[in-house]
Amino acid sequence: MGKQYLIVGGTTGIGKSLTDIITANGDKVIVASRSATERIESSDHVSVHDIDTTDSEADWSFLPEKLDGMAFCPGSINLKPFHRFKATDFEEDFRINLVGAVNAIQAALPALKKAEKASIVLFSTVAVQRGLNFHTSIAAAKGAVEGLTRSLSAELAPGIRVNAVALSLTETPMAERLLSNDSKKEAGNARHALKRFGQPEDIAEMAAFLIGGKSSWITGQIIGVDGGMGTVQNL
Ligand SMILES: NC(=O)c1ccc[n+]([C@@H]2O[C@H](COP(=O)([O-])OP(=O)(O)OC[C@H]3O[C@@H](n4cnc5c(N)ncnc54)[C@H](OP(=O)(O)O)[C@@H]3O)[C@@H](O)[C@H]2O)c1
Repeated sequence: MGKQYLIVGGTTGIGKSLTDIITANGDKVIVASRSATERIESSDHVSVHDIDTTDSEADWSFLPEKLDGMAFCPGSINLKPFHRFKATDFEEDFRINLVGAVNAIQAALPALKKAEKASIVLFSTVAVQRGLNFHTSIAAAKGAVEGLTRSLSAELAPGIRVNAVALSLTETPMAERLLSNDSKKEAGNARHALKRFGQPEDIAEMAAFLIGGKSSWITGQIIGVDGGMGTVQNL
């Protein structure tokens, strides 16, 4: 029988690309985001639901009895010099990236536990591992996501695996302002050892591998998919 996955944030960017890969494989996806039903329609392989994951009282009753895996794709890119951040900016990034993931995982956990083997995929940023100016808030929030990934992978093993993909600049609606003209695009390409910024499929292929059974001996990992940004500098 086909498998069934929850993709939170499956309406755009990496989540949409991941949804496309999973459905092309014949499996089913439950897509949930704040305005999911405005953006895409339900079909044979996709059921679409609205949810705000920052709301701890949100109604997740649309979830099925059993889930083979989930990915949590909401996030934020809020970059500026440290002295211009307010504490509330840090709180907001923490709510979107960490608390939202906690809410979604807690809602899905009973269904994930019903599967014999299940997998959770989260998203981090290269800026946790590598110090990048203007990234204090998002690096702190995603650092928390990486901590959650490792702790939860211990707690949920052996039935449920938990991994994260740490990415660099990728062309999605979230990164639109960073790639809004040719000179920004050129600079974005040049920053990476592989001389290009990422495309949603670059990241979604890794997420699809991690959410599915072919990665069955991988848990507690933060995997860099970043054009070399995290580890490589070609001089
Ligand atoms: N793109 C990059 O350069 C980059 C770099 C480093 C890390 N990342 C990380 O990669 C992940 C995927 O990002 P992306 O670039 O693919 O972003 P994206 O295209 O903006 O997609 C984000 C998705 O999350 C949904 N979403 C946002 N807030 C939500 C909320 N509160 N509740 C429910 N759904 C919500 C959005 O739909 P609605 O608007 O309908 O809610 C959308 O479907 C994120 O965790 C991001 O932090 C991205």
